This record gives sequence, C-alpha cells and structure tokens, in this order.
Amino acid sequence: MMKNELSYTLSLDSSEVSKCLLCHDPDCTKACPKHAPVGDILRSLYFENYLGALKKLGATDCRDCPAPCEKACVLQDSKIPVQIQEVFSALKEDREVLPEHKIEEVDISTEICGVKLENPFLLSSSVVASTYDMCRRAFEAGWAGAAFKTICSFPQHETSPRFSAIRNHSRSFYGFKNIEQLSDHSVEDNLKIFRQLREEFPSKVLIASMMGRNEAEWTELARKCTEAGASIIECNFSCPNMEDNTLGITIGQSEELVERFTRATKKGTDLPILVKLTPNVTDMVPMALAAKRGGADGIAAINTVNSITGVNIDTLSAEPEVRGHSIIGGYSGPAVKPIALRFISELAHCPDLSFMHLSAMGGIETWRDALEYILLGAGSVQITTSIMQYGYRIIDDLVEGLSEYLKCKGIARLDQLVGAASSSVVDPQSIERDTILYPVIDLKRCNGCGRCYISCMDGGHQAIAFDEETRRPKLLASRCVGCHLCKLVCPCEAIGVANKAVSSHR
Ligand SMILES: Cc1cc2nc3c(=O)[nH]c(=O)nc-3n(C[C@H](O)[C@H](O)[C@H](O)COP(=O)(O)O)c2cc1C
Repeated sequence: MMKNELSYTLSLDSSEVSKCLLCHDPDCTKACPKHAPVGDILRSLYFENYLGALKKLGATDCRDCPAPCEKACVLQDSKIPVQIQEVFSALKEDREVLPEHKIEEVDISTEICGVKLENPFLLSSSVVASTYDMCRRAFEAGWAGAAFKTICSFPQHETSPRFSAIRNHSRSFYGFKNIEQLSDHSVEDNLKIFRQLREEFPSKVLIASMMGRNEAEWTELARKCTEAGASIIECNFSCPNMEDNTLGITIGQSEELVERFTRATKKGTDLPILVKLTPNVTDMVPMALAAKRGGADGIAAINTVNSITGVNIDTLSAEPEVRGHSIIGGYSGPAVKPIALRFISELAHCPDLSFMHLSAMGGIETWRDALEYILLGAGSVQITTSIMQYGYRIIDDLVEGLSEYLKCKGIARLDQLVGAASSSVVDPQSIERDTILYPVIDLKRCNGCGRCYISCMDGGHQAIAFDEETRRPKLLASRCVGCHLCKLVCPCEAIGVANKAVSSHR
C-alpha cells in the first residue's frame, strides 16, 4: 500500500477503542503518571483522527508503567477496562503505516453563500443550538457557526419522552428518532439571543432557521431575524411530525409551496437564503429548483427521515411511547448518512443548481463523514445527533482530522476538494461491467472463523471452500464473480483485492 493512502489497515484494535465510554473529565487522564492526555488520545482514536492521536501520545513511553489508567477506567468495575496500554502500543506501531505530511500549511476555511466560515462545521438547527449559552459554548469550542433551533410565532407543545434510538454493539446510537417540535422560546427571546451572539461573536455564522404559517409570517420572521443580526436565513420546509401538519415537511413536499414561501421570505430580507429540504420525497431536485425560482441561494439537506424505530414487545406500543401511543418521527444519525449522501450527490449533479451552495448533514460523526459530503459537492456541513451524544468537543477531532488529511494529501485548501468525487457517481448505463476483481485471502491475518465461506455458500456463488483440517478458506477462482461479499463479512480484514483485473467474458 502507498504510504500516503488514507485507507490504511491498522494493527490498532478498533473494537477495543470503541469500548471507551468517552467519559467527562476522565479518570484515566488523571491517573496517568506521565501526564499524557489519555482520554483525549482515546477520543481522537474513537473519531478516527489517528494522526491527531499519535501527536497527542508524542514520546510518552508506557512500557514498564503499571497502567494506573486502566485501573482508573470506569469499566474496571465491570471487569472490562479499555486495554489502554495495548491500544497505545499498537498506535505506536501504526506510525509506520500512517501517512506523512506533504505540506504543513493548510486552510480549511470556506464560505457559505458568500459568508466566510472559519471551518466547514456548523451546528444544525435543533436542540443543540437552542439557547444563548449553548451557542456560546459551541463557538468557544471552535464551531464556525450555528443554525439556531427553528423559531416560529406559534406555541409549541412537546411530548415526554420524545426520543428513541437504535444502538450498535458498543451502545452508541446507530439511528436516532425524535418527535420534537420547534423552539419553545418566544420570537422576541430568540431575537435577543441573536443580537447578543452577533455582538459577542462577530466572526461566527449565525443561521436563523424559521417556520411561518403563511406568507406574511415568513416575510415578517425574515425581516426580524435580519434586523437582529443573522448572517443567513434558513427556511425550514422539512421538519416531520409537526403538531400542525400543514407545516414543515408538508411544504417541502410541494414545489408550489416551496417556491411561494421562499419568495415570501426573500421579501423580508437581503440576506442569503438557505432552504432546508426533506428526504421524504422521491426526488429532491424539483424541490431545490422550486427554491431557486423563489430566490434561494443554497440548499440545506437532509432533515430527518420519517421513521418508526421500534415497537415495545411488552407494551405493544411503537417507540418512543407516550402514554400508550407514538407517532412517526424523524430519523437521524449514522444510519441516514447513505440516504443523505445520495441526495447531496443528486443535487450536485443538477446543472441548473450549480451555483447553489449545498450545506449537507445526516449522520456526521467524524472528519471522514464530513469529507465524504464535501467530496460529493457540499460546501459546508451541519451536525446534530453526534453532538447530542458526544458533545461539542467533537469539533476538535473534526478540525484536526480534516487538516491532517489535507496535509498528507498535499492539498492546501479545502475548497479544492468540493465536489472532487462527484463525477465518480454515474448512471447505471455507464458503469463498467466487463472486469472481475478477485478477492485475495491473507492466510496470516485469517483467524479461521469461516464467515466468508458461509456467506459465499449461502449468499454468494459457492466460490470459497473451507479446509476442515487447516480451518482455512480457499478461493475457487473459476466460480468467483468478484462480488466481494467475503471481503465485507470478514471480521479481521484478511481479505483484500487482487491488483490484476480479469475479463468477465471468460
Ligand atoms: C432532536 C432533534 C431536533 C431537531 N430539530 C430541528 C429543528 O428545529 N429544525 C430543523 O431544521 N431541523 C431539526 N432537526 C434536524 C437536524 O437539524 C438535522 O437535519 C438532522 O438531525 C440530520 O443530521 P444529524 O444526523 O447530524 O442529526 C432536529 C433533529 C433532532 C435530532
């Protein structure tokens, strides 16, 4: 593998790292006799900022240390503390495969509809950006701006509870459902917050997300937010599960309403307008074109996906259960990222939208997630669910991880990457279908679990045999169609891909 490829295989055990609970004020850090920022290093690893983790580990030598960090780990009580010493020594070994800097100075500043952003990372409109104090703390932590929680001039009635989640094996959210409404502060209270934030943080971008019930309200809210110092207006045409079901998603599913209310908003402001669209449509492009006709300067996408996350099999109610009932609500978090990437790609491919800014969101947790959106055409990215779970502190690894990537690739400005992978997405008629890339099994890495064999037998083309004596798989090339299911199911990354392509017309 080339040294500066970022798709390296690490000896570091990521499942060990994912055990880390990312504690507040972690005891492991306090216990380290060498004063290494143990918790910060683990957090950088958790968010795939390997180079940042290495930098923080520096010359710390953990050999001969009795590992008080592991004894201090809160998981010690359940007898499964993170094996910190092992993780750190693997990280040091990985120094050899991790890429090196080609350049030292990079610029990750960008702009959103002509407004300068110090980095591409914004809080997306939601509970994470709903008070003065929250935005202040986020700005101080390094976020470039915030789309404030959607404001409106009608009262809000929330349910309790209002969230439900699908978790992965390490109990972090894979998908997250909310049935929340809009800001429960009065318009005047929110405008006061805007004024204060504008005064105290002149370089941060303040996006005023809003929702009106008729044209007059859209115009009036836009006028008020402009006067209060917002940098950009965001029309919320996309929140699901609104108590008033003529609003939010209902607008975003109608080209006529999108155009009409964007135009009404434009009447009240000379600021750039982002229109935030819903993924609960077959095709977002017509909605984006309607927003453009109405005067929008950019599209924000995606809002949440209509969902039911689960049913409680004891109470027989869908979740979250509110006194025996639930409603269809908005799904977010890592599970929706593929859906959101698809919409961003389609918007970026539309020539008539080429001058519109794309502000992307959906499941961003790491700098890699953010970069993928940028590579498909997004100029900025917004985040909610991972902040709800991990806090504003994720900005450290987002900024550092992205900067490290640019340094290793030798790319001086983030802007150079916007849309760089867009042309890789082609239509089904144009994809090359004439070559087979065979999998290659690395028997040294293989642990003999046989998962590739089972999958190929029952879900593939019976192209892997399993030697019961050596407990190792063997590829039967004459049967292999190169689908790579085996590579995807292998739990120990023992299956790679041959360099040599073979014609599928054998
Ligand atoms: C609890 C919660 C509240 C939200 N409230 C709003 C809102 O008021 N206005 C809005 O435009 N989007 C709202 N959203 C949608 C988010 O801004 C974002 O579009 C979506 O969650 C996808 O990003 P994520 O996966 O990073 O969370 C909310 C999302 C969540 C989880």
